[in-house]
Amino acid sequence: MRVIRIGILGFGTVGEGTYRMLVDNADEVFAKTAARFEVKRVGVRDLTKPRSISQDLITDDLKSIVTDPEIDVVLELMGGEEPANKMVQLALENGKHVVTANKELIAKHGSRLINFAKDSGLDLHFEAAVGGGIPVVQPLKHQLAGNDVIKIMGILNGTTNYILTQMEEQGADFADALAEAQVKGYAEADPTADVDGFDTMYKISILAAISFGKQIPLEKVHREGIRSVSAADMHYAKHFGYKIKLLGICEETGEGEVLVRVHPTLVPLEHQIARVSGVYNALWLHGDFVGDLMFSGRGAGADPTASAVVGDLIDVARNVVAGGNGSAIPYGEGMQVAKMGDLETRYYVRFEVADRPGTLGEIATAFSRRQVGLAQMEMITKTGGLGEIAFMTHVCRESDFGTAIQEVARLGSVSKLEGWFRVEE
Ligand code: NAP
Ligand code: HSE
Repeated sequence: MRVIRIGILGFGTVGEGTYRMLVDNADEVFAKTAARFEVKRVGVRDLTKPRSISQDLITDDLKSIVTDPEIDVVLELMGGEEPANKMVQLALENGKHVVTANKELIAKHGSRLINFAKDSGLDLHFEAAVGGGIPVVQPLKHQLAGNDVIKIMGILNGTTNYILTQMEEQGADFADALAEAQVKGYAEADPTADVDGFDTMYKISILAAISFGKQIPLEKVHREGIRSVSAADMHYAKHFGYKIKLLGICEETGEGEVLVRVHPTLVPLEHQIARVSGVYNALWLHGDFVGDLMFSGRGAGADPTASAVVGDLIDVARNVVAGGNGSAIPYGEGMQVAKMGDLETRYYVRFEVADRPGTLGEIATAFSRRQVGLAQMEMITKTGGLGEIAFMTHVCRESDFGTAIQEVARLGSVSKLEGWFRVEE
């Protein structure tokens, strides 16, 4: 029987969940790998915290783990860019396979680390970095790899999907929904990574890199969070037949060029993705041969994430037992990224206006001057001679739409541009 020795860096939500799964499901894992896993060391930051495992396993000397000659596999479950980046590099240099749940690490340094692993005959897996327990990375690397992936769209962040669902179902505004998500433990005290779209940006960039074969420069990813979404927008979106979801989207826009973007998006009520509520995640994709596919499930939490980490570990164990050479699948660097101004889609936009004859005509004329056609409209009367008017446009170019809404906002009959979002059909 082969014993595979593991060093775990990080013993928080994911580290502890992974350890528990390895203990509870040791027989299942053995049946599928002919190997037993032994956790040899666990690296943490704070040695004084009470832990659910023997204190003898714990150290704050991460380097001693990644250079330990007896350790076969390092699980990087700390998060953040550093020291994760240095420790993973060092682990690979010392001949260790690596499994990580760290989206920021892979989105920023994936190309270099995976290529290094491949050249060294080692595994570097990161299923848990995207979609928690939902298998999306391995299917894209293996079963779907023969497809030309045309487009990927995902709800990749549970916290923001929970907040948007509360706003939609309870009519809550953003601040109240965020506060509730924090009380329930979904949102961090500092919610920036989730609500400002960084988490989704890392995840969609990883999926884009696997699907399109090159790492995406993060500074070229268009990123917007959900702070600008209001209960009023939710209301109008529903009236027009849509829900508002924070989506990570990547698509081919030309030969060797992709557009990668993260923003609140109107999705038709009948689209499968619109039905994904609360903390659930979902990934929809279209491949030229496979057609439309959708994966959904729990994208965060100790148990689902442990499931993904242990799945990767089983992949490593099979290679180790078979004496294989590692199965890291590398991608290159320098993906060409298209400009947002060239995007062509439909848009939703809402203005505060003067509630008087002629307002609608002035707005429609201003839009038409920029080749933006209006498809649907809803107007309500407010107090003080004001009204609120929301439109859905026909498909148009983002640069034209952007110019048009600025020109409309300057009309005498328009007092405020309240908000606008892109639409996916
Ligand atoms: P967490 O609960 O905050 O735990 C982080 C662990 O790493 C803690 O044990 C911490 O030590 C240790 N750590 C952090 N920085 C360290 C440093 N500089 N030196 C030594 N130890 C350090 O985080 P988590 O939620 O488990 O997330 C871990 C990773 O999984 C992240 O990359 C995250 O994005 C990813 N992930 C998380 C989830 C989820 O649902 N939580 C889902 C998918 C992916 P102390 O215990 O001493 O503080
Ligand atoms: N903060 C993330 C979420 C955790 O809310 O989905 C998983 O990456």
